[in-house]
Amino acid sequence: MAHGLLAGKCGIITGALNDQSIAWKVAQLAHAEGARIVLTNAPVAMRMGEINKLAEAINAPVIPADATVDADLEKLFAGSMEHFGGKADFVLHSIGMSPNVRKGRKYNEVNYEWYKQTLDISAMSLHRMLQAASKLDAFNEWGSVVGLSYIAAQRVFPDYGDMADAKALLESIARGWGYHLGRAKKVRVNTVSQSPTMTTAGSGIKGFDGFFGFAQEMSPLGNAPAEDCARFCVALFSDHTRYLTMQNLYHDGGFSTTGVSHEVMARFMGA
Ligand SMILES: NC(=O)c1ccc[n+]([C@@H]2O[C@H](COP(=O)([O-])OP(=O)(O)OC[C@H]3O[C@@H](n4cnc5c(N)ncnc54)[C@H](O)[C@@H]3O)[C@@H](O)[C@H]2O)c1
Repeated sequence: MAHGLLAGKCGIITGALNDQSIAWKVAQLAHAEGARIVLTNAPVAMRMGEINKLAEAINAPVIPADATVDADLEKLFAGSMEHFGGKADFVLHSIGMSPNVRKGRKYNEVNYEWYKQTLDISAMSLHRMLQAASKLDAFNEWGSVVGLSYIAAQRVFPDYGDMADAKALLESIARGWGYHLGRAKKVRVNTVSQSPTMTTAGSGIKGFDGFFGFAQEMSPLGNAPAEDCARFCVALFSDHTRYLTMQNLYHDGGFSTTGVSHEVMARFMGA
């Protein structure tokens, strides 16, 4: 049931690749809650064509942008403002990719050219986006920016590889820009640290089923589904969270503060 939480707001949503993508669910819900949306993804991802189905369903234009290319990002914000006839109220950063993880390079044997790409695509892209938006003065006051992160930024998950470092950088960039955009425009910037979720990016990680299953058994509420992550993102875009900024917020069913669960203990106890 929609509540009009985002009535009158305009936002840019990155990263909707297919209907498994967290960004896809955020776009659907933000639209249902009354927002006008511009969708964007890397030109190479758009060739798959799936995003056009979403664009049609929520009546949103798609502006291609490689999030590592500043000129693309400036075009994205300029084009969005033209479409909205005004500035943006929210942005979802839902972008992650590691060539090392994809090609099976472990943390202790990375290729450093790929490592740079991991950091650029998955973290610096948030910096680049917010610098482009700032340059064009593309945000309305009390706007909201959300980036999606993972707890490997704080704790070691060996198979998450160099993405862990990218997420730590992403969370730091959110704090940095939260300060600057907060002072300049009262715009808040937060990251949401989401449970393992079955998506293209998620299932590209070696041993993902293990991650998913372990987190499921460790979390009192179970893993948070993508649909619920979308609900949380929409809440963060809404006016009900106006003074929440520069935070990394765990949306993980309690995983991050559970030491051990009965389910996991049971595996180590005799009958
Ligand atoms: N799936 C999980 O388990 C999980 C858990 C926590 C956080 N996250 C994060 O959520 C976000 C979204 O991932 P997802 O799980 O929905 O997977 P996804 O594969 O559907 O989304 C990743 C998106 O990044 C886009 N992308 C890659 N390179 C790009 C570039 N150069 N420019 C612009 N876009 C680019 C892809 O096209 C894709 O749409 C990512 O930041 C991911 O790390 C995912």
